[in-house]
Amino acid sequence: MWWKKLLSIPVFVYTVLSGSAAKGDEVEQRENMVSRQIETRGVRDPRVLAAMRRVPRHEFVPAAQRSMAYQDGPLPIGYGQTISQPYIVAVMTELARLKPGDRVLEIGTGSGYQAAVLAEIGAEVYSIELVPELAAEAAETLKRLGYTGVEARQGDGYAGWPAAAPFRAIVVTAAPPTVPPLLLEQLDVGGRLVIPVGDYFQELQVHTRGEDGIEVETIFPVRFVPMRGRIEDSEGAGADADEPDQPAAER
Ligand SMILES: C[S@@+](CC[C@H](N)C(=O)[O-])C[C@H]1O[C@@H](n2cnc3c(N)ncnc32)[C@H](O)[C@@H]1O
Repeated sequence: MWWKKLLSIPVFVYTVLSGSAAKGDEVEQRENMVSRQIETRGVRDPRVLAAMRRVPRHEFVPAAQRSMAYQDGPLPIGYGQTISQPYIVAVMTELARLKPGDRVLEIGTGSGYQAAVLAEIGAEVYSIELVPELAAEAAETLKRLGYTGVEARQGDGYAGWPAAAPFRAIVVTAAPPTVPPLLLEQLDVGGRLVIPVGDYFQELQVHTRGEDGIEVETIFPVRFVPMRGRIEDSEGAGADADEPDQPAAER
């Protein structure tokens, strides 16, 4: 009957309008996140600010955390891991000093959010995650949102990704007690390793590879989840670059 079709129109209109209102809310929340949490604390790189405005952070957090996705802090993503605070993601991205087309390695894919921000800069992103379930979920989220510029794998990032090296930047989002030497070896000349270092007391460091060696800069104290896997056993910490620990499976 034609009148039955008419009855369904208000439901359709409500669904479409409430969907776009929610989308509008998220755009506004992202704008507030950037202006109140990131710009006011000194992040200035226009590429980074634009990327933080574009990436839908709520898509990278579990359903139960969605209403808090744009708050000023880290959030649990399961398996004892976290998605980092938006400000920290912005600072680390700014410290990486990437331009479109640069190759970057991320250690600790987690939810996939930092990888998406790096991809929005226009970088070619490689990312490794130790926890298989997180690696699979992040790969699925990145694919669903169309981040085709990210190659994500499950594995131990301790030894980097030698087959894709050298990198213009390496961004590490889990803290090792000391800097894994194989990561420094995979930096291009001029390349930057952005990494939290320490156990309980950690600091964010930038290691820049020059023609004659590595220059280290300390940024500020941070608190990241610890790096796990090979870094924890003394044998792994002494491994050499000829026997790279290739990530186990490609996702
Ligand atoms: C703070 S969370 C990552 C946040 C993530 N970048 C994001 O945007 O959601 C740190 C991640 O590092 C991972 N991780 C710890 N040790 C690792 C290792 N050796 N190799 C790769 N990933 C590791 C953890 O499982 C965790 O998911």
